[in-house]
Amino acid sequence: MSEGSAILARARARIPGGVFGHRRSFAFVDGVMRGLPERYPHFIARAHGCRIVDADGAEYIDLLCGYGPMISGYGRAEVDAAFAAQQARGVAYSLPSTIEVELAEALVARTPGSAWAAFSLSGTDSVGLALAVARAHTGREALVVAHGAWHGNHTSMAFGSGRIDADRQRTRWIRWGDPEEARAALEREPVAALVLCPYDQQVGAPNHLPPPGYWAAIRRHCDASGALLVVDDVRSGLRLDPRGSAAHFGIDADLICLSKALANGYPAAATLGGERLRAAAEAIFVSGTFWGFAPALAAALANLELLDAAACRVMAALGRRLGDGLVALAAARGVGLTVSGPPALPLLRFAEDPAFDRGCALAEGLARRGVLIHPTHNLFLSLAHQPGDIDEILEAAEAALDELLEAGR
Ligand SMILES: Cc1ncc(COP(=O)(O)O)c(C=O)c1O
Repeated sequence: MSEGSAILARARARIPGGVFGHRRSFAFVDGVMRGLPERYPHFIARAHGCRIVDADGAEYIDLLCGYGPMISGYGRAEVDAAFAAQQARGVAYSLPSTIEVELAEALVARTPGSAWAAFSLSGTDSVGLALAVARAHTGREALVVAHGAWHGNHTSMAFGSGRIDADRQRTRWIRWGDPEEARAALEREPVAALVLCPYDQQVGAPNHLPPPGYWAAIRRHCDASGALLVVDDVRSGLRLDPRGSAAHFGIDADLICLSKALANGYPAAATLGGERLRAAAEAIFVSGTFWGFAPALAAALANLELLDAAACRVMAALGRRLGDGLVALAAARGVGLTVSGPPALPLLRFAEDPAFDRGCALAEGLARRGVLIHPTHNLFLSLAHQPGDIDEILEAAEAALDELLEAGR
């Protein structure tokens, strides 16, 4: 038995499902829920740059980047040095660290429309904080969100075993990208917040960039109805634009949620808001013992130094090289494959693959060739990926596609 299989067997005895949460699932979209195949890597021993090494010593080019946090590279010296320096000065103080003020200034300076920042640890925290501010400001309860969007562990927005209808009673779902549906939902009842991702970033379905005029129409409908516009930039934040995705797409947001890539893998999140929401942000009590975790905030400050417009252009170019290469390889073999979403966060989807059999087969084939992808979730490019890594991935994809076709999948 390999080391990885032995650890998996031990994990299954002591951890629900062996691998808990989203890292357990290979495909988690409407009605399709499959566990990771045994031959897929399960446990990682170490990482450096864009490469991870599993419990058996096998190395992979990581195109998942920890589901987004790794943006500057695993073990990025500047970020880790900032974390270590702050760690040496103390970790969880009884009062906020001075670094919190520095990071708030840095984020507000780079995020158009923002006047303040409040820190927490995760995307779930950041969205929860934004919802509390929106409800405090408007005095309203209802929320409007898009079908298929994931905004974190909020019982008001999540489905499935262990969740109850009563928790979702104040939430309505609309299609992302249709301003008329948004208008109708906002006119139906007084809404505290319309919560949307900056582009349609559903898992398992082609992703869509905003159609022309979409965000201007959304802004008008929010203003007409008195609802606040919350942009959940947890997943894409800082990969598209150093000012955040709202600025990238010209979105006039009331509240912006950031986390994942903020501190290059250390747990940190920020909720940013405009001047008119300052009083509401001051009025709410939302908190966490570890919020404002000083070393992660120091890491975030150092990470932001690395994330400028040129860095975002580099990630977009790498993503285009990857996406164009994959589409060409598939087309040469008569296989329908779409790559959608922004180039730095590409989503692969095979045509006529409702149960993701082909997607799973490609992911498995790539894993055996030293590349880690996910069959239904978008991928993430980072500053640690080099053009040569993309070429290596494409070489592996060519062999994995041939194998998949030979096997009649
Ligand atoms: C768009 C979006 N919002 C919120 C979250 C929740 O973030 P976290 O897992 O850090 O709580 C995620 C996580 O995947 C996300 O993709």
